[in-house]
Amino acid sequence: MSELLKTTAIGTDPVRLDGSAKVRGLAPYAYEHPVDDPLYLYPVQAEIARGHATTIDISAATGADGVVHVLTAENAPPLQSTEDGELAILRSKQIGFRGQYLGAVIATTPEQARLAADLITISYVADDHDVELRADHPASRTPESGGGDVAVGDFNASFAAADITIDNSYSTPIEHNNPMEPHTTIAHWDGSELTLWTSTQGVHPTRSALAPILGLDAEQIRIVSPHVGGGFGSKGVPHADMMLTALAALAIPGQPVKYAVTRQQMFSITGYRAPTLQHIRLGARADGTITAFAFDAVSMSSQTKEFPEEATKPARMMYAGQNRRLTQRVVPLDVPVPSWMRAPGEAPGMVGLEIAMDELAVAGGIDPIELRVRNEPETDPDTGLPFNRRRLLDCLHEGATRFGWADRSPQPRGRRENGWLIGMGVAASTYPAGRQPGSVARIRRTSDGYQVGIGAADLGTGTWTALTQVAADSLGVPLDRVDLQIGDTALPNATVAGGSTGLVSWGAAVIAAAEAFRTEHGDDPVPGSEAQGEAQANPAAETFAMHSFGAQFAQVRIHEATGEIRMERMLGIFSAGRIVNPRTARSQFIGGMTMGLGMALHEKGELDPRFGHVINHDLAEYHVPVNADVPDIEVSWLDENDPHAGVLGARGIGEIGIVGAAAAVANAAFNATGVRVRDLPVFGDAFL
Ligand code: MOS
Repeated sequence: MSELLKTTAIGTDPVRLDGSAKVRGLAPYAYEHPVDDPLYLYPVQAEIARGHATTIDISAATGADGVVHVLTAENAPPLQSTEDGELAILRSKQIGFRGQYLGAVIATTPEQARLAADLITISYVADDHDVELRADHPASRTPESGGGDVAVGDFNASFAAADITIDNSYSTPIEHNNPMEPHTTIAHWDGSELTLWTSTQGVHPTRSALAPILGLDAEQIRIVSPHVGGGFGSKGVPHADMMLTALAALAIPGQPVKYAVTRQQMFSITGYRAPTLQHIRLGARADGTITAFAFDAVSMSSQTKEFPEEATKPARMMYAGQNRRLTQRVVPLDVPVPSWMRAPGEAPGMVGLEIAMDELAVAGGIDPIELRVRNEPETDPDTGLPFNRRRLLDCLHEGATRFGWADRSPQPRGRRENGWLIGMGVAASTYPAGRQPGSVARIRRTSDGYQVGIGAADLGTGTWTALTQVAADSLGVPLDRVDLQIGDTALPNATVAGGSTGLVSWGAAVIAAAEAFRTEHGDDPVPGSEAQGEAQANPAAETFAMHSFGAQFAQVRIHEATGEIRMERMLGIFSAGRIVNPRTARSQFIGGMTMGLGMALHEKGELDPRFGHVINHDLAEYHVPVNADVPDIEVSWLDENDPHAGVLGARGIGEIGIVGAAAAVANAAFNATGVRVRDLPVFGDAFL
């Protein structure tokens, strides 16, 4: 069993098992869970970026129709720990960012809560605030968490001696994850147990985060989240909205409190991708071989809580180059708390690095694919370990053939059609292949099949279906004999749906449980028989550098007169281990690439330095790609079964689709026009 997983369901492409219920509106999302006599919460948010509130006058709100309770720092339930600055809300009237929660109104209807919140008047003493990220900011510091700096060899000498050099700065803006389902919670405190129906990427990790802060035992908290309408990392850790709703419920025992974060509130409360500044210097021999490699990255962080957006992360392992210097810094500012957004670190980091590689190719007169061929490392430059299986070049070559790379003009402005300049670009893609230990699956024989329970999450990606496929093959039964239950702390422990580790980590638990079940109950188990199994750490991760790779191709056209830029087609080829469900996997890759297109051409949170908040805080002003922006995205993958990824042979695919996609588009824009854009997003003005 451990050597061989006989696959019948794995590799086939069943439709989402929850799809029919979803399209018929029968799959309850967190906010839709039926509860009796719910109350509704509306928050009060700070209107200055830094300082404190002198008075918060709630008298008009308290007397307003339908108002049951007004929560402020004066009366908020106590917290056991205030270490987490993002979650330790309503402790004082201090203000660390504009939009910070200062209180909440709880009323009989959502409209009454919102109206009453508006009746609260606040006087402030504003201090000078600073929300502007600069590379030379005096507050710049090494982040407390993160991979640390790299210094190998003599960068300065080798850079000075290089035949070809590039020395440029790149930037990525604030980006916001905007899942269609906003962050929502229904909280209910019955005096001894707190239940949260909430939209999260991990019920158990959320419980573990909240319990010590609230001073409750983990067993006193139940988190339920079977259906999630997208997360992209923003639901990977609990944010202040969940804490606010929990505090409201604790303040009003016996009554469920509902809160759906509004789209505008999401821009200051539920995390975002911090902007980055990336200074990259590459020195190479005339043949393109990199000898000197320096990457100095700075990201915006918050005074309220540190979060490093580690742009240097992929640069640690991508390319050869014996003289290396990588530094990562954060600048804590008076801004909302950044957090995970699809491929944190890799997504912005592969913008700078992969545009820089394109620039090096141009400087050396070398084809960008050939440049990458010449800089393939034999082992992981960071750890010295061999790669599990590094197939970047296979992805690039396969993609070049399919995309028609040979037709690309090596010179910019080489292709013109009806007033449009047309260009092609390429970039590499990568993401770590992690597996988390500790998830537990429970299998119970029923009269006609098996019930499998694990507190896993499906963000809408199809993981529920793919994990059912894993369970079916582990148990040696058809798919429809498996009833998989997820998304509830009443089920066995599961790790977070994050870092592209969900399916492989939970799959390892399911496989272990099936093995235990067979050992304990044999081939003819009686109904009611049960067994559990736990996911272990991947031992191969000790001896191999575990990563997935991919190649991203893009073709854009840019209008000579107007500068209008349009993506024409994109192709992604991925090496990501075994693909469990080709249908849902294709959606994941396409979704990631579409998000990369958003990074490339659309997305930018505009932080107004005068007021300290993102002013384009809704989907009318913060642009994401719509169907008309995405004419043609094609995805394929190499046929693989990675023996170092465990019995399942699969690696995660949730994040790699976004990585490198934006650089491929920016490189295509250069190939079209000869104009190099180093600051995302690429807006048409650049070409005029
Ligand atoms: Mo993903 S950004 O690790 O949830």
